[in-house]
Amino acid sequence: MKNTSTEEEQRSLTSSSDPSYSASVSEFNNDFDGYRWVIFNGQKHLATLNLIKGNTVYDEKLITVDKEEYRLWDIFRSKLAAALVKGLKNLPIKNKTKVLYLGASTGTTVSHISDIIGHSGVIFAIESSIRVARELIENVASKRENIIPIIEDARKPLSYFSTYGEVDVVYCDIAQPDQTEIAIDNCKTFLKDNGKILLVVKTRSIDVTQDPRTVILQEAKKLENSRFNLEQVLNLDPYDKDHGLIYATYNQLKS
Ligand SMILES: C[S@@+](CC[C@H](N)C(=O)[O-])C[C@H]1O[C@@H](n2cnc3c(N)ncnc32)[C@H](O)[C@@H]1O
Repeated sequence: MKNTSTEEEQRSLTSSSDPSYSASVSEFNNDFDGYRWVIFNGQKHLATLNLIKGNTVYDEKLITVDKEEYRLWDIFRSKLAAALVKGLKNLPIKNKTKVLYLGASTGTTVSHISDIIGHSGVIFAIESSIRVARELIENVASKRENIIPIIEDARKPLSYFSTYGEVDVVYCDIAQPDQTEIAIDNCKTFLKDNGKILLVVKTRSIDVTQDPRTVILQEAKKLENSRFNLEQVLNLDPYDKDHGLIYATYNQLKS
């Protein structure tokens, strides 16, 4: 992805919610791949092209760039956004990607993935809490046809097996002590060969006594021992203290 900051590439931004507001944008990625960097209020932000015009999910700001509406992507509310700011390269989620998302919660990150994959992609959004899932369905999934909410326990992939076939990416953010094992089980059931995993590691759910960096590396090792090749291991500090994100490729033939 290329970032540019030349004068002629400056654009003007208008807030959709406040048409009188405008600011300058001085930096874009040229090769648009579902999300882009913008300068807004003097600060660099991530933004995704809004799939549902005028719709917001968590009171994020809507901005207009080149007549298209974007949603600012809050790095303090979404660990995927934090990972991109911390240097995640080659995001495997693009237009048309099929994603299995474990721990959908109320849909903050799910909604940005929904923007990125567009109308031809799909997210199977697994959430075990009925109360939380209701909010996900009412506020997000009912408005975005590429999200299929599934109220199930991610520890039981066989309970939602067979309906949907293989996926390109498994994203896991469930904050459980056995989160890595749960993610691996789901990959074995649903992830295609050469598919990708994005695993959020909440170190305090695993071991509060160890240095978070040690815990993140220990979980990365579990993936390596389960037919994954590591792409990147990121510490999400300071945006998400005691959290890491592991990006790896599934190789079904790895011994
Ligand atoms: C840290 S939150 C996820 C935040 C979300 N990924 C985001 O970025 O917007 C973790 C979520 O995982 C859900 N969860 C925890 N254990 C689960 C399980 N075994 N199966 C499915 N969901 C689970 C929780 O109910 C909670 O909503």
